[in-house]
Amino acid sequence: MNAIVENIKNRRSIRRYLPEQIRDEELNTIIEAGIYAPTAHNEQPWHFTVIQNKELLDHISITTKGFMTNCGVDWIEKMGTNEKLHLFYNAPTVIIVSGKKEAYSSLTDCSAAIENMMLAAESLNIGSCWIGLVSFFFEQEEEMKKLNIPEGYTPYYAVTFGYKQVRPTRIPERNRDVVTYIK
Ligand SMILES: Cc1cc2nc3c(=O)[nH]c(=O)nc-3n(C[C@H](O)[C@H](O)[C@H](O)COP(=O)(O)O)c2cc1C
Repeated sequence: MNAIVENIKNRRSIRRYLPEQIRDEELNTIIEAGIYAPTAHNEQPWHFTVIQNKELLDHISITTKGFMTNCGVDWIEKMGTNEKLHLFYNAPTVIIVSGKKEAYSSLTDCSAAIENMMLAAESLNIGSCWIGLVSFFFEQEEEMKKLNIPEGYTPYYAVTFGYKQVRPTRIPERNRDVVTYIK
């Protein structure tokens, strides 16, 4: 199989990490892949906040889970009360991806950068997981001051990175009946 397609198909959301930090050159390669994503009108409207401070990551996890427990959505509340769950699965590196509020297509552009970064990580045998639940933290104005997101940018998602503790064997089933061909 073509190496890029193989890399795409091999990537899994990794939810167990080794505590060892990834190397700076690996981190730089991952970010470089992010900034090579396509963007509407070539605006490149992103900002990456790299967090490698365990205390802060643990704080975000605990705080976010607290807000999850009262959100009114059953499955999210259950995750919030799960004592074993760490929002970032104890990954040693988390990147918060924020987008320029005024850009044409900020969320889409940032999402393209996230996928590029996750695929670059997989090519280095580094695990990753896209974290949407962190949005509960993003809503907390006072807490968000700790992240120093630049003025004019909205934080969209977090992505975890770290060496894989286990390689998942279960591949979430893909729906195939999703294509219309017009010839
Ligand atoms: C927008 C978005 C938000 C996600 N949020 C979370 C999350 O908060 N926590 C989590 O464990 N996985 C999260 N995921 C990962 C998905 O659960 C995962 O991609 C999906 O189950 C398919 O599995 P795979 O990535 O191994 O192919 C998110 C994925 C996307 C695209």
